[in-house]
Amino acid sequence: MTEHATVGSALDWTNPLRDDRDRRLPRIAGPSGLVIFGVTGDLSRKKLMPAVYDLANRGLLPPGFSLVGFARRDWEDQDFAQVVHDAVREHARTEFREEVWQQLAEGMRFIPGDFDDDTAFKQLKSAVDELDASRGTGGNFAFYLSVPPKFFPKVVQQLKKHGLANGRKGSWRRAVIEKPFGRDLASARELNAIVHDVFEPDQVFRIDHYLGKETVQNILALRFANQMYEPIWNRSYVDHIQITMAEDIGIGGRAGYYDGIGAARDVIQNHLLQLMALTAMEEPIAFDAESLLTEKLKVLKSVRLPENLGEHTVLAQYAEGWQGGEKVAGYLQEDGIDPNSKTDTYAAIKLEVDNRRWAGIPFYLRTGKRLGRRVTEIAVVFKRAPHSPFDSTATEELGQNAIVIRVQPDEGMTVRFGSKVPGTSMEIRDVSMDFAYGESFTESSPEAYERLILDVLLGDANLFPRHQEVEESWKILDPIEEYWARHGKPAQYASGSWGPEEADEMLARDGRSWRRP
Ligand code: BG6
Repeated sequence: MTEHATVGSALDWTNPLRDDRDRRLPRIAGPSGLVIFGVTGDLSRKKLMPAVYDLANRGLLPPGFSLVGFARRDWEDQDFAQVVHDAVREHARTEFREEVWQQLAEGMRFIPGDFDDDTAFKQLKSAVDELDASRGTGGNFAFYLSVPPKFFPKVVQQLKKHGLANGRKGSWRRAVIEKPFGRDLASARELNAIVHDVFEPDQVFRIDHYLGKETVQNILALRFANQMYEPIWNRSYVDHIQITMAEDIGIGGRAGYYDGIGAARDVIQNHLLQLMALTAMEEPIAFDAESLLTEKLKVLKSVRLPENLGEHTVLAQYAEGWQGGEKVAGYLQEDGIDPNSKTDTYAAIKLEVDNRRWAGIPFYLRTGKRLGRRVTEIAVVFKRAPHSPFDSTATEELGQNAIVIRVQPDEGMTVRFGSKVPGTSMEIRDVSMDFAYGESFTESSPEAYERLILDVLLGDANLFPRHQEVEESWKILDPIEEYWARHGKPAQYASGSWGPEEADEMLARDGRSWRRP
């Protein structure tokens, strides 16, 4: 008998004699099912269905796991299964295995109906009960609202009315909500009130898929599992921080959602402010949802906007331009966009975190569609050395030291610093030291939605923003949106460029410039 077997079950995490293999045991969901509202949408097809299959294929779902689709379509269970099948074939990350698919497909059910259709919700209730009996889902169900926010009130009220929001004793029910969580503070509060009228706060999982990305979770590992970064991670050493989320795509077929929302509401309010909070926060007392919330909230509450928003924020719209060798249309020429639209497709803002660690250090956040290339990164740019013993010509080409966390697509980290150029004179030039996920690890990363769906099924809320964070984030963005609503039109930038001149001028006023990632 191996030592492993003598010390108890492999799942006994409290066992002090557990070996390395035990420590790497995967987190596996217990008996459960997932109900998706809005199952005909893009998100569902491209992300949710493939994520469910990939989890099953990795052996992280229980054998009786069940997937229920709800939508206004005249489908039978097998039509729904066919839609999932096609989505999985097209978008799943792991290889297709017939036996995994068969097991999953047996637990698929479809409920046709409108959100105000009581009969459909009665059918949903029966389906849930039937799955409990036939597949052993144990009464544990997550309801994924992959629908526009205007439908949230109806769906949550129907879940309550039909006794679906809470299961029998010992089982769980959870609600999963996709952004946008409102369009400003007032609407976010309304939305939260509606959801919390039916679900307890710990039953609600708000998806910010950036938190499901490996590189984003690694911000915490990097900062708090190591000794060498924290001592310099503050206003004494850091000059400023730049957080960039650049996309090369335009708005595609999303005119209906995007026009009137814009870049700042679409991604700064959530993804970028979350990245900022993780970069700036203090060490949480433990890696749990409550402690993470406490620290992130402190950062968001300490944010101070510049007084002159006209000088320190820029909203802009893409004009026509060239991308990948092709001429592309401007935002106002896109299908479904109001030709007089003032919606921003680019936003850059400056803010400060007014606490002892960061006082006076600017955080510059920028995002845009149709920019030079797709890249998300956090660059911590350091002050120059306070004194140099070298001749000034030796350091002419030396920039500022920087730590760049590359969130995507080339996941990893770069440290920029000066080094002597080989030769007989002293000349110092910038060099980079690189860590790349692909080279350092053989393990493959799960897609963000895989990780987050698994966390929902496990009831692990670490990577989900709570309503307080959502509201604090709107408090930061609202004054900027209000300012620009009063002060005219967004600036313009050519598609394929790195944004408007106004954004360059914004940093130049502070004696800085944007990185070209
Ligand atoms: C979404 C936004 O939240 O994030 C989209 O609504 C954006 O506009 C997308 O394109 C980007 O996600 P990712 O994971 O491709 O960076």
